[in-house]
Amino acid sequence: MKETTQTIIVTGGAGYIGSHTIIELLTTTDFNVVSIDNFSNSTPASYDRIKKIANRSFESLNFDLCNEAELNGQLSNIKNIAGIIHFAAYKSVPESMTNPLLYYHNNLTSLNNLLKFALKQNIKNFIFSSSCSVYGNADKLPVTEETELKKAESPYGHTKQIGEDIIRFVCRSELNTVILRYFNPVGAHTSGQIGEFPLNRPNNLVPIITQAAVGKNSLTVFGDKFDTRDGSCIRDYIHVSDIANAHVKALNYLIDKKNKSNTPVFNLGTGDGVSVLEAIKSFEKVSGKKLNYTIGPPREGDVVAVYADNTLARNELSWQPKFGLDDMMASAWKWQQTLEAGN
Ligand code: UD1
Repeated sequence: MKETTQTIIVTGGAGYIGSHTIIELLTTTDFNVVSIDNFSNSTPASYDRIKKIANRSFESLNFDLCNEAELNGQLSNIKNIAGIIHFAAYKSVPESMTNPLLYYHNNLTSLNNLLKFALKQNIKNFIFSSSCSVYGNADKLPVTEETELKKAESPYGHTKQIGEDIIRFVCRSELNTVILRYFNPVGAHTSGQIGEFPLNRPNNLVPIITQAAVGKNSLTVFGDKFDTRDGSCIRDYIHVSDIANAHVKALNYLIDKKNKSNTPVFNLGTGDGVSVLEAIKSFEKVSGKKLNYTIGPPREGDVVAVYADNTLARNELSWQPKFGLDDMMASAWKWQQTLEAGN
């Protein structure tokens, strides 16, 4: 059993999934949280939002995880580290196509440095943010964790494949890692007080949709001639709070030693494949806003279709997604309206 003084290190804690996971940790566990973020795609304001929603405080550190000396200096004083949840990474498929080395450097160096630290400090439990992009264009859908990984379609996806391999070779005795393959995390906390907040023009579909609805962005559907039911790409959108909840379950799964291997892998998706055009329709329905969009060419690096078989996460982690597509869109819209109101 854990003691109340144990600490969880969350990297990328000011970011989109990290911030929702800290809320989950603070509201459902006794762990202390130390967040590490260099605000490369987030702002310190998300810490204030987390504290307000959770009504609890936590520590935060600002440095780049690629700087090993700084990582060791900043983290070696932290006592009783029960686990590390590693979110901090670059995550844009198109950006990774134009600047692959940025992705290989940032996503892999930070992982290496953290794993080295975890081994040195004898930390037992690690959670890694992987992605369904590791499957590439899979032969058969839905994908299970056993589905063969095809060639990654983007450097972003490739960094996740390599990251998983690094973890499998490193975690062979004391250190255990749950590899969570997120499908497409979207939506925002039901309070409407925190959500995705990309510093630059977003590349992900849902923030582009909500910005388009308030006239801050234009929406292009990347391709409508794919071999799918309406010609647009298919994804498995999953509410960010369901993803956050899965992290706490995964952490406790390791702490309670329920894992059957050193590096269990779980798909985190709802299991429903949704096309880009269907996602747009859901948003229009829940917001009452008609979106103007154009159809553009396919985006380089995109897979055509992917959605999850989530049976393993349901059975092993006792996790199940609570939110549907309309909830995801409604919460993302609520958050956009909070931003518009300047709150
Ligand atoms: C990818 C990963 C996902 C990861 C995410 C992080 C895959 C299959 N999924 O999501 O696991 O969490 O990166 O960023 O690799 N689209 C448009 N117009 C736009 C933007 C997007 O039509 O302006 C379409 C895309 O072509 C895609 C869908 O919307 O079909 C979702 O795109 P996006 O939100 O960018 O996420 P992925 O790249 O699928």
